[in-house]
Amino acid sequence: MEISIIYGTETGNSESLAREAREKLTKLGHQATVVDMEDMTVEQLKNAGTLLVVTSTWGDGEPPSNAEALYQALKDSSEDLSTVNYAVFALGDEFYENFCQAGKDFDAFLE
Ligand SMILES: Cc1cc2nc3c(=O)[nH]c(=O)nc-3n(C[C@H](O)[C@H](O)[C@H](O)COP(=O)(O)O)c2cc1C
Repeated sequence: MEISIIYGTETGNSESLAREAREKLTKLGHQATVVDMEDMTVEQLKNAGTLLVVTSTWGDGEPPSNAEALYQALKDSSEDLSTVNYAVFALGDEFYENFCQAGKDFDAFLE
């Protein structure tokens, strides 16, 4: 299976987990690539095969800075994304009121 793992990160946790996921998926025989969200457009995302979104939440329930452009583009998009097979792996901290909000938002945009 071809899997694109895209990460949104502020301090590197999501990127580390994305790379760890790629190692494990590769060992299982899948073709997995890791891409910085900053380098991914909605159009590319549509054709990215199976998608694994790994993102933290920052600020007050906001996406990390490298995820902002894709976050906004997906939010504004009228593309039909119903054919995209995806999963979201959201990092966060329950200390914050908007727990894992960026991950929840990506899930809602892709759904
Ligand atoms: C300033 C700051 C704001 C944060 N805001 C949120 C938040 O609103 N919701 C949440 O669930 N986690 C929040 N977190 C927790 C981060 O999402 C968590 O530490 C995560 O592991 C960071 O991953 P990253 O290194 O990939 O960015 C915040 C952390 C910091 C330091």
